[in-house]
Amino acid sequence: MNNQLTIAMPKGRIFEEAYEMLIEAGFDLPTTMDISRKLMLEIPEENIRFILAKPMDVPTYVEHGVADIGIAGKDTLLEQQRKVHELLDLKISTCHIASAGLPNTVLDEIAPRIATKYPNVASAYYRERGEQVEIIGLNGSIELAPMIGLADRIVDIVSTGQTLKENGLVEYEYITDVSSRLIANPASYRMKNERIVDLVKRLKKCVK
Ligand code: PRP
Repeated sequence: MNNQLTIAMPKGRIFEEAYEMLIEAGFDLPTTMDISRKLMLEIPEENIRFILAKPMDVPTYVEHGVADIGIAGKDTLLEQQRKVHELLDLKISTCHIASAGLPNTVLDEIAPRIATKYPNVASAYYRERGEQVEIIGLNGSIELAPMIGLADRIVDIVSTGQTLKENGLVEYEYITDVSSRLIANPASYRMKNERIVDLVKRLKKCVK
């Protein structure tokens, strides 16, 4: 059986932190690598292959089994509800999901408009509170929505809070914690159990 481990990694800022963690966990990975354009990296020394995906697409690769494991944000996992095992909280890229809007505004409309990249998370949040809202799905630059009158609130990731601040918005409700998680395809988890359990054990020691 091919025992190679395919790992779906998020391209961009999370990649470096996750890659560092794997090195710290003792994986023999090149310390300098130009990954600016490459989408697949073979590491023969470890019989590992990385595929570099958009963060939001990592759970898709893992659910479909083209990646055995992956690193995905809890925000994406909550939003997509894919059939993957969540194995470990890596406690990197920590941030939270919050609602935000223009300062000193109250939601007194019948169905206030909520702009978000996370329509499922936002719907579930307001439904649980018994509040009826209209969800407006956007793909990015969410902070624009209240500024130009598209929405009354946004539901989005807040990390340093800088983006809100620079766009004159304030946080209203803290919705949930977010960090990067190690996830696995259920069949891979069974078939490559020894390798995956070993990797989890080693990474666990590096979680800060
Ligand atoms: C995310 C998020 C906020 C920002 C928060 O956007 O959607 O806009 O980061 O970070 P901060 O609190 O540290 O300012 P991202 O950079 O992913 O870009 P996007 O607007 O395309 O979603």
